[in-house]
Parts: sequence; C-alpha cells; structure tokens
Amino acid sequence: MCGIVGYVGPNSTSEVLIAGLARLEYRGYDSAGIAILDSEHEIDVRKRSGKLKELRELLKDSPIKQGNTGIGHTRWATHGGPTDENAHPHLSEDGSVALIHNGIIENFAELREELAGAEFKSDTDTEVVAVLLGRELAQTGDLETAFRNIVKRLHGTFTLLAFATAEPGKIVAARHHSPLVIGLGEGENFLGSDVAAFVEYTRRAIAVEEDSIAVITPDSVQVTDFDGNTVATEEFAVAWDPAAADKGGWPSFMAKEISEQPEAVANTVRGRIKDGLVEIPELAALGDDYLQNINRIIVLACGTAAYAGQVGRYAIEKWARVPVEIELSHEFRYRDPIVDENTLVISISQSGETMDTFLAVSYAKELGLKTVSVCNTQAATIPRESDAAIYTHAGPEVAVASTKAFMAQVVALQLFALHLGRVRGVLADSDHRRAVTQLEALPDKVQQAVESQEQIQQLAHWMADTRSVLFLGRHVGFPVALEGALKLKEIAYIHAEGFAAGELKHGPIALIDHGQPVFVLVPSPRTSPTMHSKVVSNIQEIRSRGARVIAIVETGDTAVLPYADEVIRVPLADPLFEPLLHIIPMQWFALELSTAKGLDVDQPRNLAKSVTVE
Ligand code: F6R
Repeated sequence: MCGIVGYVGPNSTSEVLIAGLARLEYRGYDSAGIAILDSEHEIDVRKRSGKLKELRELLKDSPIKQGNTGIGHTRWATHGGPTDENAHPHLSEDGSVALIHNGIIENFAELREELAGAEFKSDTDTEVVAVLLGRELAQTGDLETAFRNIVKRLHGTFTLLAFATAEPGKIVAARHHSPLVIGLGEGENFLGSDVAAFVEYTRRAIAVEEDSIAVITPDSVQVTDFDGNTVATEEFAVAWDPAAADKGGWPSFMAKEISEQPEAVANTVRGRIKDGLVEIPELAALGDDYLQNINRIIVLACGTAAYAGQVGRYAIEKWARVPVEIELSHEFRYRDPIVDENTLVISISQSGETMDTFLAVSYAKELGLKTVSVCNTQAATIPRESDAAIYTHAGPEVAVASTKAFMAQVVALQLFALHLGRVRGVLADSDHRRAVTQLEALPDKVQQAVESQEQIQQLAHWMADTRSVLFLGRHVGFPVALEGALKLKEIAYIHAEGFAAGELKHGPIALIDHGQPVFVLVPSPRTSPTMHSKVVSNIQEIRSRGARVIAIVETGDTAVLPYADEVIRVPLADPLFEPLLHIIPMQWFALELSTAKGLDVDQPRNLAKSVTVE
C-alpha cells in the first residue's frame, strides 16, 4: 500500500518527487525516501523513517543533488519495521541501480538465499530485488532486458520502479496486482501509484495494464507485456482538480472531506436522472435483458465500503426486489458460493485497488459472474476488471478514514436500485419519482447536517477521556451504527461497537454501566412510527441502567427528549435516506474526539488508505 512516484524531465526532480509523495502519503506513512541520478551519473538517496515531514527536514539539512531522473516512495511497512534502513529506495550492491516497490515479494527468501555473498542493509523484500536487478544488469548490460528477466522471477504483488546509472533519463516500471499510471508531460513524463502523484503537473494519463512493463524517458513512453510485446495504451484525461487534493484551509483532510459531502452527493447524482427517473448509462454494458433476469446480488467490499453496501441493500431490495447479500471480500474467496449466471456481483471500493476486493472480483469472474464496480478512482484496477463501472464523483479522498466516499457509495447504490427497479418493471413510477425528489433535495439536507460540527465539538470535549462508546441503530440505522463505531476506532483509538438496537437485550446490554456513552440513531416518528417507538423503548432501557444517551433524531422529534442526555437534530428525510444524514454527526464526533486527544486525524496509526495487500 505504499505510494510510488517517478519523474524524468528538466524540472527540479526533488520538488516533483516530494510534491507527489505529499499527495500519495495517504497510501502509507511509516517512512519516505527519494533517489536521484545526478549529473555525474551517481545515485543520491535520502530516506527517513516517520512521516514525510521527517524526510523534508533531512533534505533541508542535507540537500539532495539534482538530476533529471528520480524515484520516490512513501512506505507502509510489510517486511521489516519502519526504520531508516528499511525505507525505500534501495540500491544494488554496486550502487548502480535504485529501486522502489509497492506490494509483497512472496519468494524473497529463496531469492535472497540465491544471492550468495550479498550484504543486505535492510530486512526488506525490496532490497533483494534491487540486488537481483543489479547483478542481472551487470550480466546483460541493458536495463530493460535485465528488468524484464528479473520481473518474471518474482512471485507476489508488485509495482516496481527502477533506474540505473548507465542509462540516465530512463525509468523502468512493472506492475503485477498493484497499481501503476503514467503521466504524460511535454518533454517530461511521470509514473505514479495513482494520478494524485502528478496531477499538479499534467492531467493526461495512461493506466498501465496488469502484467505490463513501462519504460519512460522525457520524450517517450513505451508499454509492453513481460515478454516484450507492445501493449496498446489509451490516454485519459484526469478528472480530479489538483486543488481538490489540498486541505483548502481546513485543519485536516478529514474535516474538509466531511464538509464536501453535499457536493459528493450532487456530483454522484448529476447526469444520471432523465425525465425525473434514474438512468445510469454505464449499465448499458450489461444489457437490460441481463438486468431483468438477475435473481440475486452479492455485494463485495471491505470496511466502510461494506457498510455502504449494507445500507444500499435496503434500497436494492425495496426498489428492485432482488435479494442482496453483503460479503466481506476476503471471506468470499474462501468459500464455495452457490451462484448461477443470474447472480450479479457488485464490488464497492473507494480506491478501486483494495487487494481483497480485487481478488474477490477476479474469483467472481472465474465463476462466470457479471461484475459491476462502484468506485471513486478513475481508471483504477477494480473498475477496469469489471463488466461495468458506476463511478462515484466524490473527488479525491485523502484522509484515511472514509467519509465522503461512503456517502457517495450509498447514493450510487440507491441510483443503481432505482435504475434496476425501473428496468425490471417492479418499481412504481410514483415511488421512483419520490425517491428522485429526495435524492435531489439531499445536498441541502447534508449541508445542514454538516453544520452540526460545533455542537459535536462541545460534546467531544467533555467526552475526551471516554474509553468506550456504543452505537445503536435499527433497520438502515444498524450499518450506520457499525460505521460510526469504525470511525471512532480508526482515528480516536477508542473501543467502540455498533449494535442492532433489537439485539441489545440478547447480550450487549450487560455492557451498560453508569456513564457508558451510547449513540442512538432514532428513526423518524413520521415515516417509521413503530420502529421509532421501539428505539425510544431501547433508550429507556439503557438509560435506566446508567447509559449516557446521545440521540440523533429528526428535527421536530420530541419523544426522546426526556430520556436523552444530548440530542443532535438532522433534517427530515424518507427512511432509506436517513443514513446519509445520521452518519455525519458521528463522523464529526470521531474527528473531534481524535483532535481533543491530540491525535493525527488524517493519518491514524497502523493504517493506510489503500490496502493493497491481502
Ligand atoms: C474506513 C476505511 C476502510 C476502507 C476499506 C476499503 O474509514 O476507509 O475501512 O473503507 O479499507 O477501502 P476501499 O473502499 O478503497 O476498497
């Protein structure tokens, strides 16, 4: 899950690399490093454990030499702890090759044994590849040939970037189950784990196909397969605005991204409503005949994306009348699922690179199933592997904790449900139009919910010492409770659990003790009176056992007032849209509590944004 950037061209290579790493830091931030081939054809390396700021400090004290070829890396440690020695780039024994790597080389131990006499400076699998490449280059005398030969010997997952002292102005790169994109400039070219690596410099890009090798110089780009056969490439325009990947005056990316949710909703809906009904042009690739005959949907996703899937399930089952199962991607591959040709698989992934989800989608394809990807990242691996892609248009999400992507994923699934209901002829026009009206009204309502920040800030302040928080929800509120708990665990390092409110009496109520904070998502008394009264009873049950209740209710609901310690109000919405409003105070709560505890909101410990290992 490391971030990778490469540059060949006349600009300040170190600046380009550091700017790229700053945008890629969300992929990993255990350590960072850059290597530049200087004008005397020597490789200069600076690398440091810790966040990118440590490397910046090092570069201030010990400036790196300039040159027109460079690679940079931000690490999420797998083999070897996050130390200076283990940070990338790594060099070959004779210092003639610099190399960086994202992924895991599974046969590194065998390769290491084979490299008799080599003195390794790190514990990484990557250094083994650097040494191997150095030795192969010494034999073949040609970087591309040497690189091709060694890449074929590697097992596992990798994106590799390397350059050699003998061939200035050239970077070779390979990908196998790990992302790689090329940025096309004028007299300069770039490589990156994703377009964020170079979006500041060029919006023209090429997604490198699986199992390909790319070779870039300032004036040329060549892509081949591992055997050297040319692979056709397609240029695409990067839709992300570079400014969208900056904090824009907010104290953290997460705060900015929570506040961007109204636009995330509006942009995801835009262009998908025709004459008052939802039509998703991207689904044409599947054909209406196929959609009409779907008998089951399996949603594959991890973490927050899986919770978005759980919320979306209610919409698909209600509006399209197709049974839906949500399966964690990493579990799906290890069983023998009962499927047939009418089973549709929908994967959900913000990054489009999550290895567990990618492998689950590949497995679904092996089973002969059609696949739809709900994804936020243009030209990522998972949408490109799928039969159809519904892109969410949330814009770049940089904070590790997902917020606006969750919101856009839920909206995309609702759009999908409405499209499918229409195509299958099971959704009344009036219900469809009502749902569309609700979707169109959402951005304003989401904005009102975003404005709850101040109230939550105060709440988080008096709860800064809290050691455990519970979240309760019913129906669509249940996955939202799970998501609220996940946010808190991730960025405030607090024990948190979400429960279906009805499940409480089957065990978890034993956790309630004097002062235990419990967030309760209260359904609307107007549209869901029965569920509302059940949840109010749940509140009374926990309150009488000492819980401190924070109720999230719709404006005008007074029934909970006598039993809640704190009431957070959100605007009125139909039940299936409530999750999009209820989640916002919980996102703020996690952020504010993390801030109150003095933690790094955007880069929580042990995590990386894009989980490209299994
Ligand atoms: C939580 C979070 C993770 C991701 C999960 C899947 O805030 O961000 O749980 O949702 O790792 O990532 P994507 O959506 O990129 O597949």
